[in-house]
Amino acid sequence: DSPLRDHAAQQGFEIGAALASDHLQNDSQYADLAGSEFNAATPENSMKWESTEPSRGQFDFGNADTFMDFAQQNDQKVRGHTLVWHSQLPSWVENGNFSQSELRSVMENHIDEVAGRYAGDIAYWDVANEIFMGDGSWRNSVFYDTLGPDFVADALRMTAEADPNAELWLNDYSIDGINAKSDAYYNLIQDLQSQGVPIDGIGLQAHLINGQVPGDLQQNIQRFADLGIEVAITELDVRIDMPADQSDLEQQAQDYRTVMDACGAVDGCVAVTVWGVSDQYSWVPDTFDGQGAPLLFDDNYQRKPAYDAVHEALGGS
Ligand code: G3I
Repeated sequence: DSPLRDHAAQQGFEIGAALASDHLQNDSQYADLAGSEFNAATPENSMKWESTEPSRGQFDFGNADTFMDFAQQNDQKVRGHTLVWHSQLPSWVENGNFSQSELRSVMENHIDEVAGRYAGDIAYWDVANEIFMGDGSWRNSVFYDTLGPDFVADALRMTAEADPNAELWLNDYSIDGINAKSDAYYNLIQDLQSQGVPIDGIGLQAHLINGQVPGDLQQNIQRFADLGIEVAITELDVRIDMPADQSDLEQQAQDYRTVMDACGAVDGCVAVTVWGVSDQYSWVPDTFDGQGAPLLFDDNYQRKPAYDAVHEALGGS
């Protein structure tokens, strides 16, 4: 039957994957599936600050260019990830002891160079990533601590200037359901809108635990869409306590289906992106001891029940 991307395209929908430049170059099975199954792509690491500007004013676009070339050759819509984030931030920024005005210009120069380089080729930018804590308070970071909450509005405006065609998004994990953290985004977005700051969308990462899709996912997507912005599931994976048996894989398939259907039910939910192609390279086992197998293809690139569930949700059989 047809690949996921064909079914998605028929519905004007995007099914994406996070792609790693080294695997694109060194693993042809990976690259084949990445291109044939997905009509959207996010660079897993190659556009992050530590990759693109490892030391001040020294830009390295090698891996980012590899990713962009692949995405363009395969006619994939690109989500840029990410311009301003506390993590994978080189220490010259984090520990630079910059004054307010210096840090502002460091941030502006970074955004100008990175968003400017790919201007016109990026559909969506994750402009600021993971800015809130679980209780809805601001996360401490060099940006927040030095510039205050306005760093978000500043980064959005700077990105709009560097790439007037990109949509400007915020993105975070554990904001899939309605909770204190997603409430903080809901309030911030209304705030930004009332100040006339450009904001086009919110990414719900959806790094989920098997069997634990929030029951109010669709309701949460809907409330953001009702603010007049777009929504996407940006980093979907569903991690399993290893080893995974057949019933775990079936539960996982059901969870993927639930997420696809929740997004599909809301006008304004434009894309679902999975955070990787094969279980083999997922970040999950490195981070969560004893957990893994969170994606659509197994270690040997075989389709899992979750693949079939996504395929069916997109209208395939
Ligand atoms: O490239 C180096 C390599 O040279 C070195 O030998 C190796 C040894 O540890 O590390 C490699 O870097 C790793 C990098 O991934 C590339 O594989 C880093 O250690 C590792 O920390 C890094 O992890 C990434 C993680 O973000 C860092 O926060 C994951 O690949 C990436 O999937 C993950 O993605 C994030 C999103 O950007 C934001 N939302 C959460 C999501 C999952 O953490």
